[in-house]
Amino acid sequence: MINQAGNVPEMVWTSRPVKALKGNIRAPGDKSCSHRALIFGGLAAGTSRFTGLLEGEDVLRTGWAMEALGATVKQTGPGAWEVIGVGEKGLSQPEKDLDFGNSGTGSRLMMGLVSGYPINVEMTGDESLRSRPMNRILKPLRMMRGLDTAGPDGQLPFAIVGTESLKAITYVPPVASAQVKSAVLLAGLNADGTTIVEEARQTRDHTERMLRGFGVTVGTERLGAEGVRVSLEGGQELTAIDAAIPGDPSSAAFLVAAGILSPQGDVMIEGIMSNPTRSGFYDVVNLMGAHLGAEEMGDAAGERLINVHAGSAQLSGKPVPERLVPSMIDEFPILGVLAAFAEGETVVTGAEELRVKESDRIGAVVAMLRANGVDAEERPDGFAVQGCGGPPPGGGIVETRHDHRIAMSALVMGTASQNPVSVDDISMIATSYPDFLSHMAELGADISEG
Ligand code: S3P
Repeated sequence: MINQAGNVPEMVWTSRPVKALKGNIRAPGDKSCSHRALIFGGLAAGTSRFTGLLEGEDVLRTGWAMEALGATVKQTGPGAWEVIGVGEKGLSQPEKDLDFGNSGTGSRLMMGLVSGYPINVEMTGDESLRSRPMNRILKPLRMMRGLDTAGPDGQLPFAIVGTESLKAITYVPPVASAQVKSAVLLAGLNADGTTIVEEARQTRDHTERMLRGFGVTVGTERLGAEGVRVSLEGGQELTAIDAAIPGDPSSAAFLVAAGILSPQGDVMIEGIMSNPTRSGFYDVVNLMGAHLGAEEMGDAAGERLINVHAGSAQLSGKPVPERLVPSMIDEFPILGVLAAFAEGETVVTGAEELRVKESDRIGAVVAMLRANGVDAEERPDGFAVQGCGGPPPGGGIVETRHDHRIAMSALVMGTASQNPVSVDDISMIATSYPDFLSHMAELGADISEG
């Protein structure tokens, strides 16, 4: 088999169409909350205990980084972790480089965090992370040191040379990014004065919510119809907590999509975090005609939890409202797959940030769909898909470009397209959702090597 680039991948994985996907799955721990749990727990005074932590590679690397900086991070059972924080003594000089692998979140949050300590931290990552833009973080951090904001084009590897004399700033990020907001707030914990981040369109708010859980006072005010002003006074200490990590709406989206596309789909995903800064995908698929069922099932770590039921549905293509883009920024690859099965056109605009994710996700989504006989087109800030009004042809080999969400999206597509869909690599799925293949198998998917 030959892929779009004319190469024969060494070993492909193939997802074959099946009639029914059925069953109940517990959503894996949220990636964003898991990173923050290890970072904040590692910073706090005392011992924090977490259950339901996502044990994906990205999160484990954040744990190793916190250990290198002086915290103790240990697994006490499946998904159960204990973190002894550095407390008053603060972070210490690591003896080796911190390697964040594929993780934008781990590396960027940690850049903000270490910048307020008198240590010199060498950071690196895999090929994909080394190509991602870091000036978005370095620029506000330089402002907090009173430095000219101009600097070399920031790409890993580089060192963050921290200082105890950071000054609080008011920062208006030029891009909608929770990683930028979080890096500035984490630097602000050790800055002199009140650090403020003003977002024109609010991004995920886990840093704000979880810091409050650890005893930090964080102010939040609405800013216009869609924005928010977040403020935090420097010099506050964190106190250890016990918390259950809520289920990941971004990982659950793959299983929800599989339930919708399956000719006899009947899938229940349990314990999904229901947070308005993360729910855009669920709103859009309902707009497209999915009729997802949702029932409350309590809360975890200050977040509401829901069970979501997804059954077979014929979707209609829709323009995706731009105001929802930040709250579904990781869900566009799987939305592209749903759009391929829908009746009519789906158009995504205002999503140029997709160009700088684990891959250029605008290019990667369009290539994935075209390789499977779907009419899709790139736009500078999004993409347009002409839906097939039913199962698309399939039969392609998708280049995953080191991107876990492209791999999972293509494998979901293969469960219901006319012909099998293959991917050139599945190894990076473990960065965010190590149980993806076993969860899909439990639902009845036919995915195997070859
Ligand atoms: C994340 C923020 C988002 C998201 C990523 C996780 C976070 O990135 O894509 O998967 O945990 O803060 P950006 O801040 O670059 O939008």
